[in-house]
Amino acid sequence: MKTLVLVAHPNLNNSRVNKSWLREIKNYPDQITVHDLYAAYPDWRINVQNEQELAMKHDRIIFQFPFYWYSSPPLLKKWLDDVLTYGWGYTSKGGRLRGKELGLAISIGGSEIDYHPEGGDLYTIHELLSPFHATSNLIGTQLLMPFTIFDTDDKSEEELVSSARQYSEYLLADKIASFQSRYRTN
Ligand SMILES: Cc1cc2nc3c(=O)[nH]c(=O)nc-3n(C[C@H](O)[C@H](O)[C@H](O)COP(=O)(O)O)c2cc1C
Repeated sequence: MKTLVLVAHPNLNNSRVNKSWLREIKNYPDQITVHDLYAAYPDWRINVQNEQELAMKHDRIIFQFPFYWYSSPPLLKKWLDDVLTYGWGYTSKGGRLRGKELGLAISIGGSEIDYHPEGGDLYTIHELLSPFHATSNLIGTQLLMPFTIFDTDDKSEEELVSSARQYSEYLLADKIASFQSRYRTN
């Protein structure tokens, strides 16, 4: 199982969570390829062919990002726009990534309790991630249960180290539950 982690953090230097996750997962270069989109494309001109070839070489693709305005930072959206072209990313029968696994690793500043119809954020994370679910469905990938951490500002150094360890275990697992199963309520 070869995993590609596409990292989309506009300011990794000031990051605590994503930086500690990356520090840990870089210990597994044979199993995990880390590709930092903001570092690779400071001019935002994405090399579509390179991105498509890189994605094809892996079985599992993970989008890793901090939750910004209930979504991903914009360069990841541009990656989707540019790379998932008709004929490659999708056709009437899925696309070239069909059959691969797609995962999300997201650091979230808010509290999980607020991501609820009666909480401050009104919607569950499951609901807010529905565009990724629909995208995965269209391109024919299997969306995995996301790896998340909430309350990022309140996390101690020990908690960050522990989260990073759990993240590498998640990435290295042979089997990860599907997106739907994580949110099944019955
Ligand atoms: C521009 C911006 C938008 C943000 N939007 C949200 C948001 O919609 N929901 C949320 O829970 N946290 C939000 N946050 C907080 C980030 O999710 C949090 O700072 C980040 O995940 C921490 O990870 P890091 O240490 O790797 O930067 C936002 C932060 C910034 C800078």
